[in-house]
Amino acid sequence: MVFLNPNFQNPTGTVLKKERRKELLEVASELGLPIVEDDPFSLTAYEGTPPSALKSIDTIGSILYIGSFSKIAASGLRVGWMVAPNRIITRLADARQQMDFGLSVIPQQIAAQFLKSSYFEPHLERLRMELRFKRDLVVDALNRELPGLLDFSIPNGGLHLWCKLVPKIHDGKLLEEAIRRGVIFVPGSVYGSASGFVRFTFARAPVAEITEGIKLFAEAVLDSWVGSD
Ligand SMILES: Cc1ncc(COP(=O)(O)O)c(C=O)c1O
Repeated sequence: MVFLNPNFQNPTGTVLKKERRKELLEVASELGLPIVEDDPFSLTAYEGTPPSALKSIDTIGSILYIGSFSKIAASGLRVGWMVAPNRIITRLADARQQMDFGLSVIPQQIAAQFLKSSYFEPHLERLRMELRFKRDLVVDALNRELPGLLDFSIPNGGLHLWCKLVPKIHDGKLLEEAIRRGVIFVPGSVYGSASGFVRFTFARAPVAEITEGIKLFAEAVLDSWVGSD
């Protein structure tokens, strides 16, 4: 099975290129591999429409497409959705039933009403604007505080910014320094990357704290760098 998150991937924020999507579908179909397309971030695309789901070009029904309310409304609802052949949905629903009798209908009703309501689209618009604003705050602060010391590409959707530290700094040591100053990030090594990568998540942080948070992160970088000589 192939599990992937083609639009605004967590943690890198990248979008899988069109040619790679085609290649992937070809290889998966040649090898008979099912694909799980995990797509919790497409609805956060800051501008325009994000690339279409892989599922939209699935001619043989080998892709299970899953979306989630978690990144666009409330992770506490535990509600998501799936587009897949009926026989697969039936088996998965049965497995879920056997695990915990399924999710309570109350959060499902809340999610259904929200999706149908006239609040849903304006909510998404606001969310996208806010995420883009926060992304810009993070990017501006990083460029100002650590010029030339970080490599990153600017994400166009999602909640994360993925950076490579140019100087050789151990991300675990950097995390300790950052926590000492009240800032937290996820070291890239948590995701299996080499040391020296960090993931910032800017969705939840209050606007008023982002610039100061990056300033403190920059102090932690500079101190860890000197400390690693
Ligand atoms: C790539 C990815 N997929 C899905 C989810 C959402 O999972 P759930 O719907 O179980 O809250 C997350 C949240 O962290 C995620 O990062």
